[in-house]
Amino acid sequence: MRVLVLYGGDSPEREVSLASGKAVLEAASRCGFDVLDGCVETVKDVVRLMNERDCDVIFIALHGSWGEDGRLQAFLDFYDIPYTGSGSEACMLAMNKVLSKYRFQRDGIPTPDGVEANLFQEGINGACKKILEYYDYFLNGGKMVIKPARCGSTLGVSVITSSSDLYEAVQLASSYDSLIIAERYISGKEITVAVWDDGKPQAFPIIEIVPKNSLYSYKAKYTPGNSAYFVPAQLEDSIAKKAQEAALMAHISLGCELYSRVDMRLDTQGNPYVLEVNTVPGLTSTSLVPKAAKAIGWDFDRFVKELIQNTLN
Ligand code: DAL
Ligand code: MG
Repeated sequence: MRVLVLYGGDSPEREVSLASGKAVLEAASRCGFDVLDGCVETVKDVVRLMNERDCDVIFIALHGSWGEDGRLQAFLDFYDIPYTGSGSEACMLAMNKVLSKYRFQRDGIPTPDGVEANLFQEGINGACKKILEYYDYFLNGGKMVIKPARCGSTLGVSVITSSSDLYEAVQLASSYDSLIIAERYISGKEITVAVWDDGKPQAFPIIEIVPKNSLYSYKAKYTPGNSAYFVPAQLEDSIAKKAQEAALMAHISLGCELYSRVDMRLDTQGNPYVLEVNTVPGLTSTSLVPKAAKAIGWDFDRFVKELIQNTLN
């Protein structure tokens, strides 16, 4: 069985993808697969690899931009080679936090209220003016969140506590995407739920994340020791059940396949709010989804093997 692992890419999450790709390559070869190294930089490299190398299955370990937003998946559909994870439409919806929020709202999935701004059309001043109209409503516990709509790993995200910080936050988000979103901040806990979907979606045990500083930032995600993780999260059964149900609904609402990671906040009463769904979540042995898989008894190699085998089923 030949497995081509695609990783690297040219998105702002390239470094994370290099780590994910390397971990997946090692695990897949320990599991006995014939592994092909598909470290790529640009889309051109993918086209070249597809023409040069035969494989039975593609393992997508590309985070962000065209590797995760559905464009790669749509391209691979033409080659008719199975690939891990969700199809192009689900990836596109998940990568775009504006579109996923509309879906969540349509399907009655709890999500923080938000407003979008298109900086091409509205400019930074126009975006700030629009967000300020919602400012008092969004300012929850004295905080509000500004994000680029189509990026990952918390890059370009700010939690602001004063309207005087808004311009800078919008400017930062705009350096990652022309589409941005401002959201009501949910005071409480940061949790994530991995969904495993071999035809019958199920939620893995919940992970609670406690970053050293209040925001679970890029640094908090990828610097060892900067966040503490509790798996399974110590939550009342009824709260855990509600969060897992919301995760399953979010996964289904976007049409995700095989696996995803649903990032959420729990308010102080324990109500879940879905922030986003990740269709190509971090895949190093210490990343969140592998941590959740470990909690059901799958070590990293088993998890990678299950992903590959279930892609072929
Ligand atoms: N976007 C990063 C890789 C994650 O969600 O884990
Ligand atoms: Mg994400």
